[in-house]
Amino acid sequence: MSDGRTSPAAITATALASFDGCSDPRLHELMRALVSHLHAFATEVDLTEAEWRGLIEALTATGHITDERRQEFILWSDTLGLSMLVDALAHQAPGHATESTVLGPFYVPGAPLRGYGESMAEEPAGTPAWVHGHVRSTAGEPIADAELDVWQNGDDRLYAVQRPEAPEEHLRGRYRTREDGAFAFVAVRPVPYPIPDDGPVGRMLGATGRHPWRPAHIHLIVRAAGFRSVATHIFDATSEYLDSDAVFAVKPSLVRTFVERGADDPERPAGIEGDWASLELDLVLAPGAEAGEVTDPGRTA
Ligand code: BEZ
Ligand code: FE
Repeated sequence: MSDGRTSPAAITATALASFDGCSDPRLHELMRALVSHLHAFATEVDLTEAEWRGLIEALTATGHITDERRQEFILWSDTLGLSMLVDALAHQAPGHATESTVLGPFYVPGAPLRGYGESMAEEPAGTPAWVHGHVRSTAGEPIADAELDVWQNGDDRLYAVQRPEAPEEHLRGRYRTREDGAFAFVAVRPVPYPIPDDGPVGRMLGATGRHPWRPAHIHLIVRAAGFRSVATHIFDATSEYLDSDAVFAVKPSLVRTFVERGADDPERPAGIEGDWASLELDLVLAPGAEAGEVTDPGRTA
């Protein structure tokens, strides 16, 4: 028999009150809201003991599979839509500034600085893609000396960081804009790939009838002094999975068309052989303090 102090509502109230002595107002707010929503969740679904144990086992497996190359906690956040929600709360792109999207787990700071038009493929990795355009401010002024920090997977679906045998600098590079804001680099036409699905997140996707695929994209972070940095993707408009990205990161403004070109195309840039593609890409930064270095909370290889 409940004496009133052990009813579900009383347990929630007692757990909430346990934070009354917290002197950090933000921590107080976060912990109370966390307990309140967790308890509401359990109450709403009438969580059974077996289901509660299943959750604990999934969290334990998440800890076990996570190391410095693989970050299964972030994958949970990505696949539950939390990463994109936090992104949306943090970055409402002002005006028509280029929109942000998830950083993803494969960003490795310190990519090599490469010259205008240089390829970032250290070995064959797919159809070469000539990516070119300008970085401008929301006022339309060209931004000189902006940095584009670019990374992507190859046609084997993998990022270099997932392949211990790959050259470390493969498919990554930093490029600077010229005086007129122009940049150009050679990437490869991106292909869709599955997020790592051999762990607890993959089991959740399988059990719920979801797939692990991401639509084809190239990642970039654009930085310039006096402007807000933006971490974003460019998605290939012809890719599968644009409507069902496993991590919900597609924004319509980031979907672009790659133009397919033949080997005999007179505009073929020097250094590109065979069939290729081109992508014209204009990037727009909002003025403001630099957002600081993008942190790398962990990787999922
Ligand atoms: C990525 O695009 O690199 C990525 C993002 C979220 C989860 C897994 C991969
Ligand atoms: Fe990616």
